[in-house]
Amino acid sequence: MAAEARHFKYVVLGGGVAAGYAAREFGNQGVNPGDLAIISKEPVAPYERPALSKGYLFPQNAARLPGFHTCVGSGGERLLPEWYSEKGIELILSTEIVKADLASKTLTSAAGANFTYETLLIATGSSVIKLTDFGVQGAESNNILYLRDIADADKLVAAMQAKKDGKVVIVGGGYIGLELSAALKMNNFDVTMVYPEPWCMPRLFTSGIAHFYEGYYSNKGIKIVKGTVAAGFEADANGDVTAVKLKDGRVLEADIVVVGVGGRPLTALFKGQLAEEKGGLKTDAFFETSVPGVYAIGDVATFPLKIYNEQRRVEHVDHARKSAEQAVRAIKAKESGESVPEYDYLPYFYSRSFDIAWQFYGDNVGDDVLFGDNDPASANHKFGSYWVKDGKVVGVFLEGGSAEENQAIARVARTQPAVADVEALKTEGLEFATKV
Ligand code: FDA
Ligand code: NAD
Repeated sequence: MAAEARHFKYVVLGGGVAAGYAAREFGNQGVNPGDLAIISKEPVAPYERPALSKGYLFPQNAARLPGFHTCVGSGGERLLPEWYSEKGIELILSTEIVKADLASKTLTSAAGANFTYETLLIATGSSVIKLTDFGVQGAESNNILYLRDIADADKLVAAMQAKKDGKVVIVGGGYIGLELSAALKMNNFDVTMVYPEPWCMPRLFTSGIAHFYEGYYSNKGIKIVKGTVAAGFEADANGDVTAVKLKDGRVLEADIVVVGVGGRPLTALFKGQLAEEKGGLKTDAFFETSVPGVYAIGDVATFPLKIYNEQRRVEHVDHARKSAEQAVRAIKAKESGESVPEYDYLPYFYSRSFDIAWQFYGDNVGDDVLFGDNDPASANHKFGSYWVKDGKVVGVFLEGGSAEENQAIARVARTQPAVADVEALKTEGLEFATKV
């Protein structure tokens, strides 16, 4: 006999960043006790995921829950589990949904529980790509670790304690690779990064930007191996990893391997039920999918990026927060016969490691114009890059900016000022942005 379903007016599927910001917005807009449930396979209330690759791994005063529940990451109120119970918002935790039937508006958990809804917000985020997915030999060995959620972070912390002062190989030169190699170095590990591209973070960095970070990391004692990949692993009799075999024949000793070779949006539950585009669930400017009453927010949504007049998927926290707020406002407005403006997002990415921090706004297309001092050995390093397309500045990157300077580069990316002379822009550097 099928289990009796629990019914909610609104269900948020997923309990990450977008879920936490959606809950806060429901709270702001007004939600009746019992109307909203958040169903998450994680055992804890929504938290600010970026903390996991930064404060969570600090050697001193490491961040721990409840310190970084949403919405502290954007300077907002910290929503503790009590906040949800006071509002009558149900947190259904440690519950993985394994089936979604949009026709009958029913979700089914791994334990066989059914949940029905009137409005569904899909906020399942991304999962990590694993080396076992490509059949890399030995990739199932112990201490080959990934980082997506608290459970992964705790495994890493335990391995760091067990292998104190040991050797770490970081596979991947993207966000995880750069943030985790710094975190492990700060914990006194011997760190080597390996990535296939000619420079780190190629999806955003130009060679001039990467020159600074690679030099800065080398000066901190991190070794960098470029242009090759991990082709296999050696392990001891206990199954613990001992070495990484590179495709170019080199072998690197390792007590811990951290892999960051990209993420994949979790959309499989909806295959054949929702329109997809660019690997995500296709939405309109209010995050409603091809099925009325079903919304997709955060990493899984491919939405109209109005400023560039194209559909895009964005895997960053600022969009996870803002898309959640937009969807909830649109849902509530629709109920009262009103409407909200279309989502008009300006892409914003950032990262921090050691004592350095960068921000990027806009689009990294067209010709790049590096400015400032990007010498990693310089005591006064401060630099950035503009991207110029069709005579207009469309993207800006800045390392080491003050709050005002970061606001200035955001303004430039939003207003897209014209530039007549690219050489003059290079010479003017950051001043161009602060004048706009
Ligand atoms: P998110 O991944 O936060 O949440 C998804 C939730 O859904 C999880 O709780 C998951 O368990 C749950 N779920 C999935 N499938 C389910 C199912 N079938 N049943 C039940 N629950 C299910 N970005 C940035 O801009 N700056 C930064 O510094 C960082 N740093 C950073 C560090 C690390 C370690 C990671 C992994 C990611 C970042 N990011 C980031 C990216 C950012 O965290 C990410 O874009 C947002 O968390 C996306 O929010 P979502 O809510 O879409 O997914
Ligand atoms: P990523 O896409 O940033 O980087 C993947 C990297 O993997 C590539 O740059 C490449 O160097 C490398 N790579 C690919 N195949 C490889 C192989 N076979 N061997 C070695 N290297 C290989 O992905 P990520 O760093 O894994 O991050 C995962 C997710 O977490 C992303 O959604 C990212 O946006 C998010 N994240 C964001 C931040 C931030 O915004 N500051 C921080 C951490 C994580």
